[in-house]
Amino acid sequence: MTKGITPHGGRLINRLLEGEEKEKALAGTKGMKRMELTPWEVSDLEMIAVGAFSPLEGFMCKKDFETVVDTMRLSSGLPWSLPVVLSARGEEAKSFKAGEDIALEDGSHTVLAVLRLEEKYHYDKEKTALEVYGTKEDKHPGVKRLYESGDTLLGGRIGMVNRPRHTDFLKHRMDPSETRELFHTKGWRRVVGFQTRNPVHRAHEYIQKCALEVVDGLLLHPLVGETKGDDIPAQVRMRCYEVLLEKYYPRDRVVLSVFPASMRYAGPREAIFHALVRKNYGCTHFIVGRDHAGVGSYYGSFDAHYIFDEFEPEEIGITPLFFDYTFYCKECFGMASYKTCPHDSANHVSLSGTELRKQLKEGKVPPPSFTRAEIAEILSEHYRQE
Ligand code: ADX
Repeated sequence: MTKGITPHGGRLINRLLEGEEKEKALAGTKGMKRMELTPWEVSDLEMIAVGAFSPLEGFMCKKDFETVVDTMRLSSGLPWSLPVVLSARGEEAKSFKAGEDIALEDGSHTVLAVLRLEEKYHYDKEKTALEVYGTKEDKHPGVKRLYESGDTLLGGRIGMVNRPRHTDFLKHRMDPSETRELFHTKGWRRVVGFQTRNPVHRAHEYIQKCALEVVDGLLLHPLVGETKGDDIPAQVRMRCYEVLLEKYYPRDRVVLSVFPASMRYAGPREAIFHALVRKNYGCTHFIVGRDHAGVGSYYGSFDAHYIFDEFEPEEIGITPLFFDYTFYCKECFGMASYKTCPHDSANHVSLSGTELRKQLKEGKVPPPSFTRAEIAEILSEHYRQE
């Protein structure tokens, strides 16, 4: 019995094969065709296997892919906003036949999973880019990656036989079943999830703590999968969180755990995806602030709020907590937002990951109104070593 909020689609998927089933699958991989996955695909594979992507049990087949791209729903009608696909190219793509099993391996040729190839199909990359990312420009990191991926998609259910080997964040890795168990043990009935890919600044801290005021616990869930080149490495971001938690957060109300997904930069569509996946981790609430999962100026600051209106709240099943643009106000002597602050914007210290990276690149130490001194120190040190 799954503890806590109902997972997306009704049950937490578990495609981690065990016991006899695993042994049989492993033995079967001996004569199978093999396919090497990219780190991004390995991350998706693991997210599927542990149920983070429930109700998905494998990489999407054509029908789901098309309804997701066109309508933000799986073919069952269930909301799902981003494709989760496995691509192949050239001779390799041709060699795979529908109906056969393929051994999926990582870069070191360890077999991780078996894919029962249900369907091979082609897709229109530009159309997909426009629908999913709102642009066809390859300057957009998500679109660039889409254009670089193979032309053939391989759909089908997976069964994982070996977990990917992780050497980092070991004490912060928790599967959805584990976070759910932990929230249950702590007696938290209302848990807010926080997605982030940037080093923590005062706006993050402010919205996290505002949210925590109205729920029982906070899941800090920094994304540690692939990000674009100029984003700050996950190791540095996690160190910032560890220091911050030590000094400024109540120990018994916060769980810090890594979110092993890759960053799509799909803005509003990714906000829906992030919310649904955090529901699978057991969160009942999810923070969506300004330009959530955005990049450059591809999305409006609050498009990631408006997109939730395209669904019935009960279809999404996790409650979004929307935050306006928040900043430090020199007249208020504290954090505020346009919703709560009456002062002229000349008094506002504007806070964003982009601005933080800009200051650090210029060798400036961000002030306490921007980020805590301990965090500024860690980040400055990182930039000095670059
Ligand atoms: S994101 O790509 O993961 O969204 P980031 O780590 O910067 O980027 O943001 C994490 C969350 O904090 C997102 O929900 C984002 O909208 C929110 N956020 C970041 N900065 C602000 C801000 N100044 N005001 C309000 N919300 C913010």
